[in-house]
Amino acid sequence: MENITTKLLKEKFIKFFKEKNHVQIDSASLVPDNDGSVLFTTAGMHPLVPYLLGKEHPQGRRLCDYQKCVRTNDIDSVGDDSHLTFFEMLGSWSLGDYFKNEIIGYSYEFLTSKDYLNLPVDRLAVSVFAGNENSPKDEETYARWKELGIKEENIYYLGKKENGKENNWWELGEVGPCGPDSEMFYITDKKPCGKNCSPACDCGRFLEIWNDVFMGFVRKEEGKPIVPLKDKNVDTGMGLERTVCVLNGYKSVYEVDSLRPAIEILEKLSGKSYNVVEEDTKAMRIIADHLRTSTMVMGDEIATTPSNVGRGYVLRRLIRRSINFARRLNINPFDLEEVVNFYLDFFKADYTCLQNNADFVREEFRKEVKKFNNTITQGLKEFDKVVSDMTDVKINGAVAFRLYDTFGFPLELTCELAKEKGLEVNVEEYNECYKNHQEKSRTSSAGVFKGGLAGTDYGYAKYHTATHLLLAALRKHFGEGVLQRGSNITLERMRFDFSFDRKLTPEEILLIENEVNTNIQRQIPVICEEMTLDEARKRGAMGIFENKYGDKVTVYTIGDVSKEICGGPHAQNTKDLGYFKITKEESSSSGVRRIKAILTD
Ligand code: ALA
Repeated sequence: MENITTKLLKEKFIKFFKEKNHVQIDSASLVPDNDGSVLFTTAGMHPLVPYLLGKEHPQGRRLCDYQKCVRTNDIDSVGDDSHLTFFEMLGSWSLGDYFKNEIIGYSYEFLTSKDYLNLPVDRLAVSVFAGNENSPKDEETYARWKELGIKEENIYYLGKKENGKENNWWELGEVGPCGPDSEMFYITDKKPCGKNCSPACDCGRFLEIWNDVFMGFVRKEEGKPIVPLKDKNVDTGMGLERTVCVLNGYKSVYEVDSLRPAIEILEKLSGKSYNVVEEDTKAMRIIADHLRTSTMVMGDEIATTPSNVGRGYVLRRLIRRSINFARRLNINPFDLEEVVNFYLDFFKADYTCLQNNADFVREEFRKEVKKFNNTITQGLKEFDKVVSDMTDVKINGAVAFRLYDTFGFPLELTCELAKEKGLEVNVEEYNECYKNHQEKSRTSSAGVFKGGLAGTDYGYAKYHTATHLLLAALRKHFGEGVLQRGSNITLERMRFDFSFDRKLTPEEILLIENEVNTNIQRQIPVICEEMTLDEARKRGAMGIFENKYGDKVTVYTIGDVSKEICGGPHAQNTKDLGYFKITKEESSSSGVRRIKAILTD
């Protein structure tokens, strides 16, 4: 097999789907727009949820892209051969256009054609949904693969759950579009692990390369049965790093071109070799992964800065964890900026926001290293004090939480320090304290989830419109330097982050509230229009101009008050918003303020 880079696989994938009349759309922000239930965009289809539920997409019914994704739920597995917290996903969609027959044909062609991946048919295995109470056995898909030439012995019916894993049923979360899927695997030289060896087992004989989801259903409420969608969609996803790894026969994803150079920098900085001592190899992998994610999160269109809540906390944890592992390798944490620079450079062609935000990313990174250095010094003193007073071998969870909360010590650092002294940390107690803290400052709840994914609820729409009015009011009074830095909406409240470097006075808060309420009382219709990005720019719309030339965007105009590029949904008229009340104004991170507000009748 020829050596294939991430760039080449991206190119081939997009070219293939363009030839099949698909339009390439831009990668969306890592900060989900319409979904307050999760902190980051976790799959290629995530930004497309409204369209998979029936909203018309301005760029058509056949789409393809590469999408940046972050998943941190498996953070503890990072360092093994396959887990990553940041990855890119290649995706293609039919929004109510073609269905199973076509996509399976396309998938087969892309995998086996000489012009594309040129994989021998005998090396391909596929899995097909075995059926359950929701959806029947997918005989149609089975027959189609067989017709194309996949050997029957390489077609496996798998159920929703086998070996405790979800198989062949795909859904994003508790609610949203879903359906049976068919996964494609590369068959390695490994012998079958037993009589029942199949793509469902972890023995390494079958390596997943692609997934076709036949998204014909939606779950509207958590725990409720699924219902069929009026228009059936196809959603495909190919993990870029993972597939490049499989196609090149690499042992781990860290051999891929978007990670390997970072490891080489770490070898140089530490004077240690990769793949010699297991612990060092793991440390290098963790740093390479975490700094990649941190760079992409800080450099995103909607930039995140390290903080103690939400996305900012995840980011802080990633950076501080990298620093801890760097210390073990005897790397000066400030030198890790070289790794950050590699990623800024590597990804800037595909994600232009990194070009604009490069200095910001470097600065935020340096600031966080400095902060962590200071807290470590102080925290170590506190830790020694705690330890010298101890009579038990278990460090109290509340103490570990204080080390985290006050000194920024990640739990794992406290655990490691404890271990060095032959002690343990009461992790359960720590988790309890952490949970209580989260609940206090938490943004997401079950309610948010529904509001997030369903997204069409009018209550939700009203808050979207209020967000535009708020930004307009802030810019009117504090100048054009005020920019949106983040937004999160639930059915109960809105939260809005904006660039501003000081606290607002009570008078100013009142002024902003009055401004928004005046515009609500003016009963201004909210106009939604589709136009090209150029046209939107010409008309002075605010928003993220990351899309490529010629892309269509949706612009919402509220009279002479606001004009913003936005995915919506929005209220039809400002009068529907009722009364706008700011409930809190606080710091979000350095240079960013946060307003929480509610709408009442
Ligand atoms: N949404 C599907 C996945 O992420 C394609 O696997």
